[in-house]
Amino acid sequence: MKKIAIVYWSGTGNTETMANCIAEGVKEGGSEAVLMTPGDFSPSRFSEFSAVAFGCPAMGSEELEESEFEPAFSALEGFLSGKNIALFGSYGWGDGQWMRDWCERCDKAGANLYDDNGLTANEAPDDAAQETCRELGRKLANW
Ligand SMILES: Cc1cc2nc3c(=O)[nH]c(=O)nc-3n(C[C@H](O)[C@H](O)[C@H](O)COP(=O)(O)O)c2cc1C
Repeated sequence: MKKIAIVYWSGTGNTETMANCIAEGVKEGGSEAVLMTPGDFSPSRFSEFSAVAFGCPAMGSEELEESEFEPAFSALEGFLSGKNIALFGSYGWGDGQWMRDWCERCDKAGANLYDDNGLTANEAPDDAAQETCRELGRKLANW
């Protein structure tokens, strides 16, 4: 059975809701979902998973969360080449610039991005946004 890692940080639970819905979709798609914090993941773990979904909300000024997620992600960046990854996260008052920057960063690192635009939700994901997350999970399960 394929395994999909869902590595995320969430301050107020919105990105966590997205992560949980993606995990539901992965299971619906017939694969195993493993939810974890950035600190639980390391470059050597890429080989365990057919794809890794990374989730982080817009923080700072259109940035990744700086104390936990950003350092962990930076440490992985040199290992992203050729890896199947997807990006997701919630945002507030911005226009999604953090996600555009994040996708570009992964693209430059040579990652195989599932969706060049990432998956975003404004604040708490509503029913439609939750279903979009499940749909991503189902697709990742069979990527
Ligand atoms: C310190 C801080 C900085 C933030 N910076 C941004 C930002 O630059 N752009 C934006 O669109 N939203 C920003 N937000 C809003 C969050 O991205 C939004 O509330 C999101 O839903 C939080 O996700 P979470 O519940 O997974 O932590 C910020 C929120 C906080 C607390």
